[in-house]
Amino acid sequence: MATLFSQEVRLLLVTVLFLIISADAKEKRTKTLRRIRREWILPPAKLMENTNYTHLEFIAKIRSDQDKDKKVEYHLTGAGASEPPYNLFVVDHNTGFIRITGVLDREKYPSYNLTGIARLKSGEEAEANIPLTVTVLDQNDNAPYFILHEGNVTEESKKGTFVMQIEGKDDDQAETINSEIAYSIVSQEPAGKGHMFTIDKKTGKLYVKEPTLDRETHDFYKLVIKGTDLGGAPGGKTGTGTVEIRVLDINDNIPTLSESEYSGSVDENVADVVVMRIKALDNDLAHTDNWLTVFKIAKGNEGNLFSIETDKQTNEGILKLIKLCQSS
Ligand SMILES: *[C@@H]1O[C@H](CO)[C@@H](O)[C@H](O)[C@H]1NC(C)=O
Ligand SMILES: *[C@@H]1O[C@H](CO)[C@@H](O)[C@H](O)[C@H]1NC(C)=O
Ligand SMILES: *[C@@H]1O[C@H](CO)[C@@H](O)[C@H](O)[C@H]1NC(C)=O
Repeated sequence: MATLFSQEVRLLLVTVLFLIISADAKEKRTKTLRRIRREWILPPAKLMENTNYTHLEFIAKIRSDQDKDKKVEYHLTGAGASEPPYNLFVVDHNTGFIRITGVLDREKYPSYNLTGIARLKSGEEAEANIPLTVTVLDQNDNAPYFILHEGNVTEESKKGTFVMQIEGKDDDQAETINSEIAYSIVSQEPAGKGHMFTIDKKTGKLYVKEPTLDRETHDFYKLVIKGTDLGGAPGGKTGTGTVEIRVLDINDNIPTLSESEYSGSVDENVADVVVMRIKALDNDLAHTDNWLTVFKIAKGNEGNLFSIETDKQTNEGILKLIKLCQSS
């Protein structure tokens, strides 16, 4: 074998023996690296975050075949060794054993791309550099969180009307169960007769639950929503957030007059005077078209002596005498 592949052996002087230390015993078999003679492509090393591997003699080894007859010195470069975070991974210059000095946090550094260097005593590099990738495996160590969500819904909206998209965040690995959030509504303020809204557990879409939203009763709701990761499974981490919903007006109230009868008088021989102001009451949103009342004189103005218009500030009808009232 050695003679047969002597050329390759010379080319592939450094052999990296990579031991995968994994909490998962099942993975061990497939992920343990063998000495690779013809290829330098190494499966990435995978280490679990929040796990203390500092007691291990090595988590990986680099080695040059030249160390049989020459003194080889091993070095490690890259972020995590010669660059920040410094010396998280350290190599024994003589043995090529790579140790880890701290506990990993995937949310800080999801991977490390290190380079192993084998140098002869002369300073000459014994081998081409060895890329060494350490992938940090995720644990569910982050809870979901929310920013404030604000939205609107029109009063009297039908059950099932879409209100807004709620989106929680989770710093654990994207597209895994650790960051998969299940949504629910915890509370509503004002509580009223019960929940007016419902949230889709999976999608976070918020809908109207009851068709009885009435701006004139409650024009604002504050919900506390909860996100549970692991897709809502028991043991999932939870976080809560606030949703503010403004109930928008529709013209669902009829104006009424403050009095049932008004009387006024004007002096004779004057024109263009205000006879009276007639106040309209409307429960719809003040200073909107839903509130503003248009007055008309239904009867008694056959001679067109009077005009009526609305004071837009007060919603009062201003009744004016516009023609001279001739005394007969
Ligand atoms: C990791 O374990 C070692 C002992 O094996 C201990 O001295 C060290 O404090 C531990 N580190 C952390 C961060 O728990
Ligand atoms: C390491 O390299 C891989 C692939 O080249 C890249 O996706 C990853 O972002 C790198 N990680 C760091 C910490 O530079
Ligand atoms: C909600 O309505 C208010 C006023 O009607 C408007 O200013 C705001 O942009 C609306 N917000 C959304 C999220 O539609």
